[in-house]
Amino acid sequence: MGAGIAQLAIEAGLETVGREVDPARAEAARGRIEHFLTRKVEKGQLEAPARDAAIARLRLASGLGDLADCDVVIEAAFEELAVKHELFRELEPVVREDAILATNTSALSVTEIASVLERPERAVGMHFFNPAPLMPLVEIVRAERTADEVFERAYDLGRTLGKTPIRCGDTPGFVVNRVLIPLLNDCVRVLDEAGVTPADLDTGMKHGAGWPMGPCELLDLVGADVHVHASEALYDKLREPRMAPPARLVRMVQAGKLGRKSGEGFYTY
Ligand code: CAA
Repeated sequence: MGAGIAQLAIEAGLETVGREVDPARAEAARGRIEHFLTRKVEKGQLEAPARDAAIARLRLASGLGDLADCDVVIEAAFEELAVKHELFRELEPVVREDAILATNTSALSVTEIASVLERPERAVGMHFFNPAPLMPLVEIVRAERTADEVFERAYDLGRTLGKTPIRCGDTPGFVVNRVLIPLLNDCVRVLDEAGVTPADLDTGMKHGAGWPMGPCELLDLVGADVHVHASEALYDKLREPRMAPPARLVRMVQAGKLGRKSGEGFYTY
């Protein structure tokens, strides 16, 4: 997600620092961005000089110190409260007084993430959807103590990044995941209940419900581990049985069948 968000920023003309602890992963992310921008050039959607200028706007860094001059920092670290807390704690003394700290969390509470900050009013949720460069939506999440000005600046940034932002409160799953996560869980349960194959279920939802891609394809894209983790987080908060991850998905995660990124999920890649 971090690479996708960085891609949006450089395409929008913003000087961008991509901070990744592991330099090999940082280079791999830059490679992916270059690949997608080059595809756009090949398809006539972008001029080659504009691609080169965009790529030149991306600076990779492994330390937090490189974020000192940023107007906005959007964190897309692992979805674990302790990880986000450590990051925000270390980040706050480094960044400018007026810098916004945004989190791309999908299932944690923005208010809780921001609780470790000296100035929690500078924190806001900016929740992008997978794949971030292609999905138009960004949810702008107002935490308990988010300042109005910070909220509106995050909304404007969403627009600058070419997205369609919506404003929402800091409730579990915000808007889309509150609906989509139990729905995807239902889809996986139907696989076994109806004795249907992933391919047939996907065909069913694409041609019977107008989904752009089938639920199994989508889960393979998002990652079974990411989805199970988000389901557990929502189930923890809402206690609705449909929120709990289906056993079949949990088994897939245990077996390392995570989807596209591991080469096998519901489908093989
Ligand atoms: N930047 C630019 N282009 C990219 C890209 C990127 N990062 N990633 C892929 N592309 C391009 C590819 O290059 C590809 O083009 P080529 O084949 O010409 O190279 C193109 O996008 C994708 O081609 P498709 O024909 O597959 O595109 P599509 O028109 O079918 O749309 C889609 C793809 C937008 C993903 C669409 O299938 C869709 O909307 N799917 C649903 C996705 C969805 O529901 N996401 C939400 C997930 S839930 C979530 O994210 C919540 C969370 O918190 C985890």
